[in-house]
Amino acid sequence: MESVRRLGPDWFWVGGSDRRLARFENMFPLPDGVAYNAYLLIDEKTVLIDTVDAAVTRPFLENIEAALDGRPLDFLVVNHMEPDHCANIEALAARYPAMKIVGNRKTFSLMAQFYDFDVALREYEVKEGDRLPIGRRTLRFTFAPMVHWPEVMLTLEETEGVLFSADAFGAFGAFSGNLFSAPALYESRWLDEARRYYANIVGRYGGQVQRVLGKLAGADIRMICPAHGPIWRENLPYILEKYDRWSRYEPETAGVVLAYATMYGNTEAAVHRLAARLADRGVEDIRMFDVSKTHPSFIVAEVFRLSHLVLAAPTYNGGLYYAMDALLREMAALNVRKRGVAVVENGSWAPAAGKEMATLLAGMTEMELLAPPLTLKSAPKNGQREALDALADRVADGVLAARERL
Ligand code: FEO
Repeated sequence: MESVRRLGPDWFWVGGSDRRLARFENMFPLPDGVAYNAYLLIDEKTVLIDTVDAAVTRPFLENIEAALDGRPLDFLVVNHMEPDHCANIEALAARYPAMKIVGNRKTFSLMAQFYDFDVALREYEVKEGDRLPIGRRTLRFTFAPMVHWPEVMLTLEETEGVLFSADAFGAFGAFSGNLFSAPALYESRWLDEARRYYANIVGRYGGQVQRVLGKLAGADIRMICPAHGPIWRENLPYILEKYDRWSRYEPETAGVVLAYATMYGNTEAAVHRLAARLADRGVEDIRMFDVSKTHPSFIVAEVFRLSHLVLAAPTYNGGLYYAMDALLREMAALNVRKRGVAVVENGSWAPAAGKEMATLLAGMTEMELLAPPLTLKSAPKNGQREALDALADRVADGVLAARERL
């Protein structure tokens, strides 16, 4: 059944929500599902902005048919060629034989790689800054390479100032009726999943996000319609500021992520001691994660949010415990930087985890190791309380200093 949502007298949301998909890109857990947004403008020309994932093809096609109300589809704008947004191009081409596809050179080259239909017959190629008048409205195209693939572009509807932003400003999470981000509810309903989405999907490309924010700085934008998550029509500076901060790899808040691996609870005991000391020193925002229990995407998102990080892990097979190794490599791939870090290693006969963690951290940019790795041998002993407290104090000093500037 169609689920079209009217966004104005002559335009509609025609996307879909999926609560059945377990993992986005088969990697990132989706406890609240995910939404794929597509938008249909009805003007002298009819224009669809993006398609959706194959999981919601049926409601999507029903939505378009209902919103077109008998008119043909003249243009499909493809802002992004990742299949969560482009999976229905062939289906649309079959249904709407006169439909032209608006994209750039890279869009069409990816399209020909993914699909078998005659892309060249449909191409309407645009270049940076090109405009497409569609009647009362005009669309302008801004290229956003690597936010999140090389062909990505953003489409600005200039009459009402609506930015169709592809992955940018998106969030994990399916809709529950409301398409708009009510400012009063955004932080409780969407912010954590928007941050997790940004950090894990776009996080590597902070420099490219900064360039796009610069390009958009002078534009008259009154609404942001992303390809995932809620639409922004109020308090746009809020999400723009978040994107500016995340893409500069600056923390939002002074606080500590304690990410630990533990085999029998001994390393964990040391981390509890650290956490208690941090709390006693007045550090309020502390998040402890067992890296074997919590998917790294949630930990990485908290690392983007908070100013400091403590890593604690056992030695395993002469190296670093695998789950901690994976977390650090993921952080490096996502260009995590600008954090104060402390390291605790454990090893019963030949501790090696600390050196490996320090080496992986050294490969990242602007990560400040606050002290040499602290070594535990099997279990923290009474004589090591002072060393753990001293390490916690170094971290607490850094957090309290960060609190002054954030
Ligand atoms: Fe939502 Fe990069 O795809």
